[in-house]
Amino acid sequence: MDKKAILEQIEKNVKMCQKCRLYKTAKHGVPGEGNIESEIVFIGEAPGQMEDETGRPFVGRAGKLLEALLKEIGYTREDVWIGNIIKHRPPENRDPLPDEIAACEPYLAMQLKAMEPLMVITLGRFAMNYFYSDGRITRDRGRLIKIAGFNVYPVYHPAAALRNPQMALGLKEDFLKIPTVLKYIKEDLQKPDGSTDLLQENKDQIGLGL
Ligand code: URA
Repeated sequence: MDKKAILEQIEKNVKMCQKCRLYKTAKHGVPGEGNIESEIVFIGEAPGQMEDETGRPFVGRAGKLLEALLKEIGYTREDVWIGNIIKHRPPENRDPLPDEIAACEPYLAMQLKAMEPLMVITLGRFAMNYFYSDGRITRDRGRLIKIAGFNVYPVYHPAAALRNPQMALGLKEDFLKIPTVLKYIKEDLQKPDGSTDLLQENKDQIGLGL
């Protein structure tokens, strides 16, 4: 199966999914969407009300902010892939529970394995913790973390930025670094001897100090 077919199959499975309780209260599964060849993907937490109504990720207020930030760095939402760790909306937008995260985990894992993006930008704490359970968003946001074969770049969640002006500034600051971090990842990959600056010895986390 090619990449497109694999991703379409995952989408179908997400839409029919009954692996946790969330399908009972949600209207639509939200598998994720966008350019499956994109070098960068954005991973949020879970669908909210608008996403649940439409079956599409980040189409509410947080999505509008995400689109505005993408524009600042020269991208549209169609240029990138956008998804979530949780595919059905938790009731009243409550935090996803550990068993719901565990049930949904394979979908994103399969999507990322199929797309093999160069850079995974996690939006908020839950998405960062999917890759890096010890992560703390206030400490780690805006720092590149190489983990499980992915170049993970955590930033604040746009919904949090809408509530908190300090976080809005931090989110914008981290967004503006994305092109530089992407360039850094590409240069790192091109090293002829296969060495990497992304991984320090015995450490899986670095601050780029950009
Ligand atoms: N917040 C998220 O984390 N994901 C969405 O799709 C929308 C809002």
